[in-house]
Amino acid sequence: MINPSRRLEHLTTSVFSEMAGRKREKLSQGIDMIDLSIGSPDQPPPQHVRKIFAEEVLRDHSYQYAINSTQAFNEAVVYFYKERYGVEIQPPSVLQLMGSQDGLAHIALAYLDEGDVIIVPDPGYPIYSACAHIAGAELYYVSLTEENQFMPDLDVIPDDIKERAKLMIANYPGNPTAALADKSDFEELIQFGMDHNILILHDFAYSELLFDGREPLSIFSIPGAEKTAIEFNSLSKSFNMAGARIGYVIGDPHFLQPLAVLKSHLDYGVFLPVQQAAVEALTGDFTFLEQHCQTYERRRNVFVQALQEIGWNVRQPDGGMFVWAKVPSHYSSMSFALAALDAGVVVTPGNAFGNSGEGYVRIALVQNEEKLKEAAHRIKAIL
Ligand SMILES: Cc1ncc(COP(=O)(O)O)c(C=O)c1O
Repeated sequence: MINPSRRLEHLTTSVFSEMAGRKREKLSQGIDMIDLSIGSPDQPPPQHVRKIFAEEVLRDHSYQYAINSTQAFNEAVVYFYKERYGVEIQPPSVLQLMGSQDGLAHIALAYLDEGDVIIVPDPGYPIYSACAHIAGAELYYVSLTEENQFMPDLDVIPDDIKERAKLMIANYPGNPTAALADKSDFEELIQFGMDHNILILHDFAYSELLFDGREPLSIFSIPGAEKTAIEFNSLSKSFNMAGARIGYVIGDPHFLQPLAVLKSHLDYGVFLPVQQAAVEALTGDFTFLEQHCQTYERRRNVFVQALQEIGWNVRQPDGGMFVWAKVPSHYSSMSFALAALDAGVVVTPGNAFGNSGEGYVRIALVQNEEKLKEAAHRIKAIL
Protein backbone atom coordinates (compact mmCIF):
# COMPACT_ATOMS: atom_id res chain seq x y z
CA MET A 1 0.00 0.00 0.00
CA ILE A 2 1.49 3.33 -1.04
CA ASN A 3 -0.39 6.27 0.44
CA PRO A 4 -1.23 9.21 -1.76
CA SER A 5 -0.09 12.68 -0.75
CA ARG A 6 -1.90 14.18 2.23
CA ARG A 7 -2.82 17.24 0.19
CA LEU A 8 -5.32 15.09 -1.74
CA GLU A 9 -7.40 14.64 1.40
CA HIS A 10 -8.79 18.14 0.93
CA LEU A 11 -9.46 17.85 -2.75
CA THR A 12 -12.85 16.23 -2.97
CA THR A 13 -15.75 17.46 -0.96
CA SER A 14 -17.92 14.72 0.45
CA VAL A 15 -20.96 16.64 -0.83
CA PHE A 16 -19.93 16.37 -4.47
CA SER A 17 -18.96 12.70 -4.19
CA GLU A 18 -22.17 11.79 -2.39
CA MET A 19 -24.30 13.52 -5.02
CA ALA A 20 -22.35 11.94 -7.87
CA GLY A 21 -22.81 8.48 -6.34
CA ARG A 22 -26.55 8.94 -5.85
CA LYS A 23 -26.95 10.27 -9.38
CA ARG A 24 -25.11 7.28 -10.86
CA GLU A 25 -27.35 4.95 -8.86
CA LYS A 26 -30.52 6.56 -10.26
CA LEU A 27 -29.21 6.54 -13.82
CA SER A 28 -28.19 2.88 -13.56
CA GLN A 29 -31.78 2.10 -12.55
CA GLY A 30 -32.86 3.71 -15.83
CA ILE A 31 -34.67 6.56 -14.03
CA ASP A 32 -35.21 9.67 -16.15
CA MET A 33 -33.30 12.57 -14.56
CA ILE A 34 -33.20 16.26 -15.44
CA ASP A 35 -29.65 17.23 -14.66
CA LEU A 36 -29.29 20.86 -13.60
CA SER A 37 -26.24 20.27 -11.45
CA ILE A 38 -23.29 21.26 -13.65
CA GLY A 39 -22.63 24.52 -15.48
CA SER A 40 -21.71 22.81 -18.70
CA PRO A 41 -23.38 24.50 -21.69
CA ASP A 42 -25.90 22.23 -23.44
CA GLN A 43 -25.53 23.96 -26.82
CA PRO A 44 -22.72 23.94 -29.42
CA PRO A 45 -20.38 26.81 -30.36
CA PRO A 46 -21.51 29.03 -33.27
CA GLN A 47 -21.39 27.38 -36.68
CA HIS A 48 -18.68 29.73 -38.07
CA VAL A 49 -16.39 28.75 -35.17
CA ARG A 50 -16.92 25.03 -35.68
CA LYS A 51 -16.24 25.44 -39.39
CA ILE A 52 -12.79 26.96 -38.73
CA PHE A 53 -12.06 24.22 -36.21
CA ALA A 54 -12.99 21.52 -38.75
CA GLU A 55 -10.77 23.10 -41.43
CA GLU A 56 -7.82 23.42 -39.06
CA VAL A 57 -8.13 19.82 -37.89
CA LEU A 58 -7.57 18.70 -41.49
CA ARG A 59 -4.31 20.62 -41.88
CA ASP A 60 -1.07 18.63 -41.66
CA HIS A 61 0.73 21.19 -39.51
CA SER A 62 -1.98 21.36 -36.85
CA TYR A 63 -0.60 18.52 -34.78
CA GLN A 64 2.66 19.98 -33.53
CA TYR A 65 3.07 21.08 -29.92
CA ALA A 66 1.58 24.53 -29.68
CA ILE A 67 3.85 25.31 -26.66
CA ASN A 68 2.43 28.83 -26.40
CA SER A 69 -0.45 30.86 -27.70
CA THR A 70 -0.28 32.09 -31.27
CA GLN A 71 0.18 35.80 -31.88
CA ALA A 72 -3.25 35.71 -33.57
CA PHE A 73 -4.86 34.44 -30.36
CA ASN A 74 -3.32 37.16 -28.19
CA GLU A 75 -4.37 39.81 -30.70
CA ALA A 76 -7.88 38.34 -30.80
CA VAL A 77 -8.19 38.72 -27.01
CA VAL A 78 -7.00 42.33 -27.28
CA TYR A 79 -9.62 42.97 -29.98
CA PHE A 80 -12.38 41.24 -27.99
CA TYR A 81 -11.65 43.25 -24.84
CA LYS A 82 -11.74 46.51 -26.78
CA GLU A 83 -14.94 45.65 -28.66
CA ARG A 84 -16.91 44.04 -25.85
CA TYR A 85 -15.67 45.76 -22.70
CA GLY A 86 -14.10 48.99 -23.97
CA VAL A 87 -10.81 47.96 -22.35
CA GLU A 88 -7.45 48.59 -24.06
CA ILE A 89 -4.74 46.02 -23.42
CA GLN A 90 -1.62 44.97 -25.32
CA PRO A 91 -0.76 41.41 -26.54
CA PRO A 92 1.96 40.78 -23.88
CA SER A 93 -0.77 41.26 -21.28
CA VAL A 94 -2.43 38.00 -22.36
CA LEU A 95 -1.53 34.54 -21.08
CA GLN A 96 -3.40 31.68 -22.72
CA LEU A 97 -4.84 28.95 -20.50
CA MET A 98 -6.37 25.52 -21.01
CA GLY A 99 -9.63 26.96 -19.73
CA SER A 100 -9.67 29.41 -16.83
CA GLN A 101 -9.64 26.37 -14.53
CA ASP A 102 -6.02 25.78 -15.56
CA GLY A 103 -5.02 29.25 -14.42
CA LEU A 104 -7.09 29.22 -11.25
CA ALA A 105 -5.82 25.77 -10.28
CA HIS A 106 -2.19 26.80 -10.64
CA ILE A 107 -2.13 30.44 -9.58
CA ALA A 108 -1.67 29.62 -5.90
CA LEU A 109 1.26 27.31 -6.72
CA ALA A 110 2.82 30.14 -8.70
CA TYR A 111 2.43 32.69 -5.89
CA LEU A 112 2.04 31.10 -2.47
CA ASP A 113 4.35 29.41 -0.02
CA GLU A 114 3.40 27.79 3.26
CA GLY A 115 2.01 30.39 5.64
CA ASP A 116 0.88 32.68 2.82
CA VAL A 117 -2.83 33.35 2.64
CA ILE A 118 -5.37 33.47 -0.16
CA ILE A 119 -8.73 35.13 0.51
CA VAL A 120 -11.61 33.36 -1.22
CA PRO A 121 -15.38 33.83 -1.32
CA ASP A 122 -17.63 31.48 0.63
CA PRO A 123 -19.69 30.19 -1.10
CA GLY A 124 -17.36 30.05 -4.07
CA TYR A 125 -16.39 27.97 -7.07
CA PRO A 126 -14.52 24.94 -5.61
CA ILE A 127 -11.14 25.45 -7.33
CA TYR A 128 -10.65 28.66 -5.31
CA SER A 129 -10.05 26.69 -2.15
CA ALA A 130 -8.62 23.61 -3.92
CA CYS A 131 -5.79 25.71 -5.42
CA ALA A 132 -4.69 26.66 -1.91
CA HIS A 133 -4.72 23.02 -0.80
CA ILE A 134 -2.64 22.07 -3.82
CA ALA A 135 -0.12 24.76 -2.91
CA GLY A 136 -0.15 24.04 0.83
CA ALA A 137 -1.20 27.64 1.49
CA GLU A 138 -3.65 28.99 4.03
CA LEU A 139 -7.23 29.92 3.21
CA TYR A 140 -9.29 32.76 4.59
CA TYR A 141 -12.97 32.57 3.69
CA VAL A 142 -14.93 35.76 3.31
CA SER A 143 -18.59 35.05 3.75
CA LEU A 144 -21.09 36.13 1.07
CA THR A 145 -24.57 36.57 2.47
CA GLU A 146 -27.91 37.52 1.00
CA GLU A 147 -28.10 40.54 3.37
CA ASN A 148 -24.92 41.85 1.71
CA GLN A 149 -26.17 41.03 -1.80
CA PHE A 150 -23.49 38.31 -1.80
CA MET A 151 -20.72 40.93 -1.71
CA PRO A 152 -17.71 40.51 0.60
CA ASP A 153 -17.49 42.71 3.68
CA LEU A 154 -13.80 43.65 3.48
CA ASP A 155 -13.92 45.39 6.88
CA VAL A 156 -14.28 42.11 8.76
CA ILE A 157 -11.00 40.70 7.43
CA PRO A 158 -8.52 40.64 10.35
CA ASP A 159 -5.30 42.67 10.12
CA ASP A 160 -3.13 39.57 10.41
CA ILE A 161 -4.85 38.08 7.34
CA LYS A 162 -4.50 41.30 5.36
CA GLU A 163 -0.81 41.24 6.13
CA ARG A 164 -0.20 37.63 5.13
CA ALA A 165 -2.58 37.48 2.16
CA LYS A 166 -0.97 37.70 -1.26
CA LEU A 167 -4.01 36.78 -3.35
CA MET A 168 -7.75 37.38 -3.21
CA ILE A 169 -10.36 35.92 -5.57
CA ALA A 170 -13.50 37.72 -6.74
CA ASN A 171 -16.00 36.37 -9.25
CA TYR A 172 -18.72 38.37 -11.04
CA PRO A 173 -21.17 37.29 -12.38
CA GLY A 174 -20.82 34.92 -9.47
CA ASN A 175 -20.92 31.18 -9.30
CA PRO A 176 -22.91 30.02 -7.40
CA THR A 177 -24.52 33.25 -6.11
CA ALA A 178 -25.10 35.10 -9.44
CA ALA A 179 -23.90 38.32 -7.75
CA LEU A 180 -22.87 41.18 -10.05
CA ALA A 181 -20.30 43.84 -9.22
CA ASP A 182 -20.74 47.48 -10.14
CA LYS A 183 -17.98 50.06 -10.53
CA SER A 184 -17.94 50.97 -6.86
CA ASP A 185 -17.60 47.31 -5.83
CA PHE A 186 -14.56 46.97 -8.07
CA GLU A 187 -13.13 50.30 -6.86
CA GLU A 188 -13.36 49.06 -3.29
CA LEU A 189 -11.62 45.80 -4.20
CA ILE A 190 -8.86 47.60 -6.06
CA GLN A 191 -8.30 49.96 -3.14
CA PHE A 192 -8.14 46.95 -0.82
CA GLY A 193 -5.58 45.27 -3.08
CA MET A 194 -3.47 48.45 -3.26
CA ASP A 195 -3.65 49.13 0.48
CA HIS A 196 -2.54 45.65 1.48
CA ASN A 197 -0.36 44.62 -1.46
CA ILE A 198 -2.73 41.83 -2.48
CA LEU A 199 -3.15 40.64 -6.07
CA ILE A 200 -6.86 40.58 -6.88
CA LEU A 201 -7.83 37.68 -9.16
CA HIS A 202 -11.07 38.46 -10.92
CA ASP A 203 -12.76 35.40 -12.39
CA PHE A 204 -14.87 36.70 -15.29
CA ALA A 205 -15.87 33.28 -16.70
CA TYR A 206 -19.53 34.33 -17.11
CA SER A 207 -18.66 37.70 -18.65
CA GLU A 208 -21.13 37.48 -21.52
CA LEU A 209 -24.17 36.21 -19.63
CA LEU A 210 -26.05 39.28 -18.43
CA PHE A 211 -29.78 39.84 -18.49
CA ASP A 212 -32.29 42.66 -18.90
CA GLY A 213 -29.93 44.81 -20.96
CA ARG A 214 -27.10 44.86 -18.40
CA GLU A 215 -23.61 45.44 -19.80
CA PRO A 216 -20.55 43.33 -18.87
CA LEU A 217 -18.04 45.04 -16.59
CA SER A 218 -14.38 44.04 -16.69
CA ILE A 219 -12.31 44.93 -13.61
CA PHE A 220 -9.99 46.69 -16.05
CA SER A 221 -12.72 49.25 -16.75
CA ILE A 222 -11.61 50.79 -13.47
CA PRO A 223 -8.56 53.08 -13.76
CA GLY A 224 -5.59 51.72 -11.82
CA ALA A 225 -6.86 48.11 -11.75
CA GLU A 226 -3.76 46.92 -13.61
CA LYS A 227 -1.63 47.85 -10.58
CA THR A 228 -3.25 45.20 -8.37
CA ALA A 229 -5.53 42.92 -10.41
CA ILE A 230 -5.55 40.30 -13.11
CA GLU A 231 -8.64 38.90 -14.83
CA PHE A 232 -9.40 35.32 -15.91
CA ASN A 233 -11.75 34.70 -18.79
CA SER A 234 -12.74 31.82 -20.95
CA LEU A 235 -14.54 30.75 -24.09
CA SER A 236 -16.30 27.92 -22.24
CA LYS A 237 -19.50 29.70 -21.29
CA SER A 238 -19.43 32.67 -23.66
CA PHE A 239 -19.06 30.54 -26.80
CA ASN A 240 -20.16 27.11 -25.56
CA MET A 241 -16.60 25.83 -25.97
CA ALA A 242 -16.28 24.24 -22.51
CA GLY A 243 -14.93 20.92 -23.82
CA ALA A 244 -12.44 22.61 -26.13
CA ARG A 245 -10.45 23.90 -23.11
CA ILE A 246 -9.34 27.38 -23.94
CA GLY A 247 -9.24 30.51 -21.82
CA TYR A 248 -6.83 33.25 -20.80
CA VAL A 249 -5.75 35.60 -18.07
CA ILE A 250 -4.97 39.23 -18.72
CA GLY A 251 -3.03 41.79 -16.73
CA ASP A 252 0.36 43.36 -16.23
CA PRO A 253 2.92 40.92 -17.73
CA HIS A 254 4.85 40.99 -14.42
CA PHE A 255 1.83 39.52 -12.67
CA LEU A 256 1.38 36.85 -15.36
CA GLN A 257 5.03 35.80 -15.46
CA PRO A 258 5.05 33.41 -12.44
CA LEU A 259 2.09 31.51 -13.85
CA ALA A 260 3.69 31.43 -17.32
CA VAL A 261 6.89 29.95 -15.85
CA LEU A 262 4.97 27.27 -13.96
CA LYS A 263 2.85 26.40 -16.98
CA SER A 264 5.92 26.08 -19.20
CA HIS A 265 6.66 22.96 -17.12
CA LEU A 266 3.11 21.67 -16.90
CA ASP A 267 1.76 21.65 -20.43
CA TYR A 268 2.62 22.23 -24.07
CA GLY A 269 -0.18 24.58 -24.95
CA VAL A 270 -3.63 24.37 -26.46
CA PHE A 271 -4.32 22.28 -29.60
CA LEU A 272 -3.73 24.67 -32.53
CA PRO A 273 -7.16 24.12 -34.19
CA VAL A 274 -8.78 25.09 -30.88
CA GLN A 275 -6.68 28.25 -30.81
CA GLN A 276 -7.73 29.08 -34.36
CA ALA A 277 -11.40 28.43 -33.55
CA ALA A 278 -11.03 30.73 -30.54
CA VAL A 279 -9.59 33.47 -32.77
CA GLU A 280 -12.66 33.15 -34.98
CA ALA A 281 -14.98 33.33 -31.95
CA LEU A 282 -13.25 36.36 -30.44
CA THR A 283 -13.03 38.36 -33.66
CA GLY A 284 -16.01 37.09 -35.66
CA ASP A 285 -19.67 38.01 -35.73
CA PHE A 286 -20.90 38.82 -32.21
CA THR A 287 -24.59 38.30 -33.04
CA PHE A 288 -24.25 34.91 -31.40
CA LEU A 289 -23.43 36.54 -28.07
CA GLU A 290 -26.68 38.53 -28.07
CA GLN A 291 -28.71 35.42 -28.91
CA HIS A 292 -26.82 33.42 -26.32
CA CYS A 293 -27.73 35.91 -23.59
CA GLN A 294 -31.34 35.91 -24.71
CA THR A 295 -31.47 32.11 -24.51
CA TYR A 296 -30.36 32.15 -20.88
CA GLU A 297 -32.56 35.12 -20.05
CA ARG A 298 -35.63 33.30 -21.43
CA ARG A 299 -34.68 30.18 -19.48
CA ARG A 300 -34.31 32.24 -16.32
CA ASN A 301 -37.72 33.87 -16.87
CA VAL A 302 -39.49 30.58 -17.55
CA PHE A 303 -37.86 28.77 -14.65
CA VAL A 304 -38.18 31.47 -11.98
CA GLN A 305 -41.82 31.94 -12.95
CA ALA A 306 -42.49 28.20 -12.91
CA LEU A 307 -40.96 28.02 -9.42
CA GLN A 308 -43.11 30.95 -8.32
CA GLU A 309 -46.20 29.16 -9.59
CA ILE A 310 -45.41 26.12 -7.44
CA GLY A 311 -44.94 28.38 -4.42
CA TRP A 312 -41.14 28.66 -4.31
CA ASN A 313 -39.96 32.27 -4.53
CA VAL A 314 -36.32 32.31 -5.49
CA ARG A 315 -33.96 35.23 -6.08
CA GLN A 316 -33.99 36.10 -9.77
CA PRO A 317 -30.44 36.10 -11.18
CA ASP A 318 -29.37 39.17 -13.21
CA GLY A 319 -26.63 37.23 -14.95
CA GLY A 320 -24.61 34.03 -15.03
CA MET A 321 -25.84 30.52 -15.51
CA PHE A 322 -27.35 29.68 -12.14
CA VAL A 323 -30.31 30.16 -9.85
CA TRP A 324 -29.07 30.31 -6.24
CA ALA A 325 -32.18 29.24 -4.41
CA LYS A 326 -32.87 29.29 -0.69
CA VAL A 327 -34.41 25.96 0.26
CA PRO A 328 -37.63 25.78 2.32
CA SER A 329 -36.76 26.00 6.03
CA HIS A 330 -37.56 22.37 6.84
CA TYR A 331 -34.74 21.28 4.52
CA SER A 332 -30.95 21.45 4.66
CA SER A 333 -29.08 21.93 1.36
CA MET A 334 -28.33 18.21 1.20
CA SER A 335 -31.74 16.93 2.25
CA PHE A 336 -33.37 19.16 -0.39
CA ALA A 337 -30.95 18.00 -3.10
CA LEU A 338 -31.62 14.37 -2.18
CA ALA A 339 -35.39 14.91 -2.23
CA ALA A 340 -35.06 16.62 -5.64
CA LEU A 341 -32.99 13.67 -6.86
CA ASP A 342 -35.75 11.29 -5.80
CA ALA A 343 -38.18 13.50 -7.72
CA GLY A 344 -35.97 13.26 -10.85
CA VAL A 345 -34.06 16.56 -10.77
CA VAL A 346 -30.35 16.89 -10.07
CA VAL A 347 -29.26 20.12 -8.35
CA THR A 348 -26.12 20.91 -6.35
CA PRO A 349 -26.40 21.40 -2.57
CA GLY A 350 -25.15 24.85 -1.62
CA ASN A 351 -22.77 23.58 1.07
CA ALA A 352 -20.64 22.03 -1.70
CA PHE A 353 -19.45 25.61 -2.31
CA GLY A 354 -18.54 26.33 1.32
CA ASN A 355 -20.18 26.56 4.73
CA SER A 356 -22.03 29.77 3.88
CA GLY A 357 -23.77 27.91 1.07
CA GLU A 358 -25.76 25.90 3.60
CA GLY A 359 -29.48 26.53 3.18
CA TYR A 360 -29.23 26.97 -0.61
CA VAL A 361 -29.08 24.85 -3.74
CA ARG A 362 -27.54 25.82 -7.06
CA ILE A 363 -29.61 25.13 -10.14
CA ALA A 364 -27.93 25.46 -13.53
CA LEU A 365 -30.00 26.75 -16.46
CA VAL A 366 -28.48 24.17 -18.79
CA GLN A 367 -31.63 22.62 -20.24
CA ASN A 368 -34.24 23.99 -22.61
CA GLU A 369 -37.36 25.80 -21.41
CA GLU A 370 -39.60 22.73 -21.59
CA LYS A 371 -37.21 20.70 -19.43
CA LEU A 372 -36.93 23.54 -16.94
CA LYS A 373 -40.73 23.70 -16.65
CA GLU A 374 -40.81 19.96 -16.19
CA ALA A 375 -38.10 20.25 -13.50
CA ALA A 376 -40.22 22.81 -11.62
CA HIS A 377 -43.21 20.49 -11.92
CA ARG A 378 -41.19 17.63 -10.40
CA ILE A 379 -39.87 19.86 -7.59
CA LYS A 380 -43.46 20.82 -6.69
CA ALA A 381 -43.94 17.37 -5.17
CA ILE A 382 -41.20 17.90 -2.57
CA LEU A 383 -41.87 21.47 -1.39
C1 LIG B 1 -16.75 30.60 -11.81
C2 LIG B 1 -16.04 29.68 -12.73
N1 LIG B 1 -14.77 29.95 -13.02
C3 LIG B 1 -14.06 29.15 -13.83
C4 LIG B 1 -14.62 28.01 -14.37
C5 LIG B 1 -13.77 27.13 -15.24
O1 LIG B 1 -14.16 27.19 -16.55
P1 LIG B 1 -13.19 26.87 -17.76
O2 LIG B 1 -11.97 26.20 -17.22
O3 LIG B 1 -13.97 25.98 -18.64
O4 LIG B 1 -12.85 28.20 -18.36
C6 LIG B 1 -15.95 27.70 -14.11
C7 LIG B 1 -16.56 26.49 -14.67
O5 LIG B 1 -17.64 26.08 -14.37
C8 LIG B 1 -16.68 28.56 -13.25
O6 LIG B 1 -17.94 28.30 -12.94
